[in-house]
Amino acid sequence: RSNVSYHCWLQYRKIEEEAWIEQYQKYCHIIVVAEDSPIKTSALSELQKGLTSLLGHTPSVSTNPQQSSAIILATAEDAHLYEDVIHPVVFEQVNDDGYIIKAINDNSCNKLYLLGKQDKGVLYAAFHLLRKMAQQEELQSVDIIENPRNQFRMINQWDNMNGTIERGYSGNSIFYADNQFIGDWERIKDYARLLSSVGINAISINNVNVFKVETKLITEDFLPDVAKVADIFRAYGIKTFLSINYASPIELGDLDTADPLNPDVEAWWKEKAEEIYSYIPDFGGFVVKADSEHRPGPFSYNRDHAEGANVLAKALQPFGGVVIWRCFVYNCLQDWRDRSTDRAKAAYDHFKPLDGKFLENVILQVKNGPMDFQVREPVSPLFGAMSETNQIIEFQVAQEYTGQQIDLCYLVPQWKEVLDFDTFADGKNSEVKKIVDGSLFQFKYSGVAAVSNIGNDQNWTGNTLAQANLYGYGRLIWNPELTSEEIAEEWITATFGHKPNVKETILNMLMSSWPIYENYTAPLGVGWMINPGHHYGPNIDGYEYSVWGTYHYADRDGIGVDRTSATGTGYTNQYFPPNSAFYESLETCPDELLLFFHHVPYTHRLHSGKTVIQHIYDTHFAGVEQVEKLKAMFSELDGDIDQAIYHNVLERLERQLKNATEWRDKINTYFFRKSGIEDEKHRKIY
Ligand code: GCU
Repeated sequence: RSNVSYHCWLQYRKIEEEAWIEQYQKYCHIIVVAEDSPIKTSALSELQKGLTSLLGHTPSVSTNPQQSSAIILATAEDAHLYEDVIHPVVFEQVNDDGYIIKAINDNSCNKLYLLGKQDKGVLYAAFHLLRKMAQQEELQSVDIIENPRNQFRMINQWDNMNGTIERGYSGNSIFYADNQFIGDWERIKDYARLLSSVGINAISINNVNVFKVETKLITEDFLPDVAKVADIFRAYGIKTFLSINYASPIELGDLDTADPLNPDVEAWWKEKAEEIYSYIPDFGGFVVKADSEHRPGPFSYNRDHAEGANVLAKALQPFGGVVIWRCFVYNCLQDWRDRSTDRAKAAYDHFKPLDGKFLENVILQVKNGPMDFQVREPVSPLFGAMSETNQIIEFQVAQEYTGQQIDLCYLVPQWKEVLDFDTFADGKNSEVKKIVDGSLFQFKYSGVAAVSNIGNDQNWTGNTLAQANLYGYGRLIWNPELTSEEIAEEWITATFGHKPNVKETILNMLMSSWPIYENYTAPLGVGWMINPGHHYGPNIDGYEYSVWGTYHYADRDGIGVDRTSATGTGYTNQYFPPNSAFYESLETCPDELLLFFHHVPYTHRLHSGKTVIQHIYDTHFAGVEQVEKLKAMFSELDGDIDQAIYHNVLERLERQLKNATEWRDKINTYFFRKSGIEDEKHRKIY
């Protein structure tokens, strides 16, 4: 067991250099909290824990604002106590979750002010301060103003109450087992600390697929426990949400319909909301997967999704709750013979016509790509297409299609590309990040959500290096302008300390991992080619003749999905110009997405100068070699990092190598057999 991995990036390793300790210690003998609150108590306890561990000395706590040297925690409300130094206008610079960290040094007085408009800001400032110390950055002239870019910064647990996690790769749930809450509130608190330390402020605690037992989470059977969980998260500035079953009025035995326009159904949801809020006064609201992959929804009653969502929104509205309605709606019973249906078009086709019809406390949650969290997909054309409807983007931190936390895949660069994508929805510079931060269309509610990658494994994420994805997710959505490298470096230092060789190696590994994974799996944006069901390992035709709408159409002459409007499904039309034309044309369509948009012969020449078939061979040979290098690089760290982490990661790199080899050989052989075209370099193809 390794204590290090259990605490993830909140280890607060003891600082070795005396000079740093001396500089920090000046501020850290006393922490002042004049007016208390549960969130300030969390900030205080984190500071005490962190400073004790970093500096080897436990600060004392005082309510007396008159101190010569101290760390001072204050919100706009109690700032008058420090009037001589803090002018109320400073709070005009921060939003509800923002904060200021300011050092004031004169003569022998050294004060560090951690100021939030609300106490959440104070907590974030405390985490920021501890992070700065762990990174060994100077504090003397510190004068920071931080505001999160996104309003909702959410995590979705896909935990089931039997303890399993849908697409979980890190053990079982930390919340549930045997259809009950486990009651390990300490573990949940540790999770709350991890999430809050990177700025997460909302969590839904059960799978979007809501089965029989989970349907009862909104009943008296479980609400007392949900309330306990909500209490824990609340103290860390995180709001609790539940995924609900759209057929609850029926399933819970009260009505024989869930028709959103039926007055009894409307009354039922109103009463339900009242009941929930009687347990959890600041309950966040519902996450809803409706009419998607066999989950019930308004379509059963010939109602559209706006009607479906609005009945819930009306019920939650008096309490300030919101409905987060997922747009992952498509025909999952497609006939593969049917070439006119294109799953990629489904979300846009279903939702775009409903723009403006949702109540103001409904938020649409849209997956980053039009299909499903593949290693490479274009950005969903729904971003920007609904200027009158609140939107949240959904990422997947869990590595369902990106190596399942066996294979290394640092996803921050992928998310960054998505957030930086220019939709042209309102002319140039209409990036996705400006849509989901609400600024482009002035959404009332907006932000980012993602499927969590944690479980009850001792290191939380199965592969210890996968912690970087959870850390990076929070940091990136707080500030999308951070670079992937900056985020990775922060995480590495917090986790492994300051050894230059460790930093350099792990940074290289993380930064190269997504391109490597892409190299040995499905090529050029075509996606899937995985084993059906569990989605790990290659199976080129695994989904080719299935109902899921996920095809590659490889034959002896070529491969890819023609989604052009000239000759294909017309998907390219869902983008704003010039993106539509950019993807439509073979001349401009980027190589990495070529097969997502076009069906081309194997001899088609890419912008890189290679033919498609040679690209397939080259990337698959390269991918395996790169994984061998990852393993070799990492082996050099033996003795330089915690042994348990070393073995945990090494064991996974070994499995990754096997997986990459399997992918290489199956893909290369399959396409050699289909095309009959030799590898120019005459390497071994089976
Ligand atoms: C994917 C995933 C499912 C999940 C679904 C969703 O299809 O494989 O397990 O339920 O996404 O996002 O709802």
